[in-house]
Amino acid sequence: MKTYLATKNAGKLGEIREMLAGSPLELDVYAAYRDPVEGDTSYVENALLKARALRAQLLAAGIDAAVLADDSGIELDALDGRPGVLSAYYAGETTPWPQRLEAMMNEIRGVPRDGRGARFVCVMALIFPDGRELVVEGDVRGEISTEPRGTHGFGYDPVFFYPPISKTFGEIPEAQKNQLSHRGRAARALLGVLGA
Ligand code: IMP
Repeated sequence: MKTYLATKNAGKLGEIREMLAGSPLELDVYAAYRDPVEGDTSYVENALLKARALRAQLLAAGIDAAVLADDSGIELDALDGRPGVLSAYYAGETTPWPQRLEAMMNEIRGVPRDGRGARFVCVMALIFPDGRELVVEGDVRGEISTEPRGTHGFGYDPVFFYPPISKTFGEIPEAQKNQLSHRGRAARALLGVLGA
């Protein structure tokens, strides 16, 4: 089933393609996709917003296909769950990643290790050509490190320390991250629901 992905984030696209390889979803991107303005309420609302926007844009272009969107974020215990759905805007939407990670580590500087817990969350929304909507979620718990480490992945990966392997997500190859990550878990939930 031809399925267009509602994302402009190359890091996410690569990961999702890898995770859903061999599934009934033949993933493609729609180069002209325009991101809608996201809300600040929930991952589910935002994932559905993106999926519906892409579906409408495709239909307007005469393409009747399935669409898949995801919305994700990082929630810090020490910040009562912030930045959460607003993770893409943390410390300023256009702030370069090294500074954004620095701002996050600064904001919780001095918080002892047992207070540095964090959670990555991912919600995926699939809309079938007949209009049916499917929503799944995945999450993974870890800790915010005191220094960024690693050059793999994207976004907050270098400061997301995963205790079971004593490494940040920035220090592990994509295939290993996909086994452990919030997005990998959501993708497996999706495959489960699809019976794939
Ligand atoms: P959105 O899902 O495109 O709204 O992105 C939410 C924010 O969380 C963006 O700043 C992403 O870069 C970040 N983010 C989402 N997933 C990951 C991940 O797997 N690793 C690191 N950062 C992520």
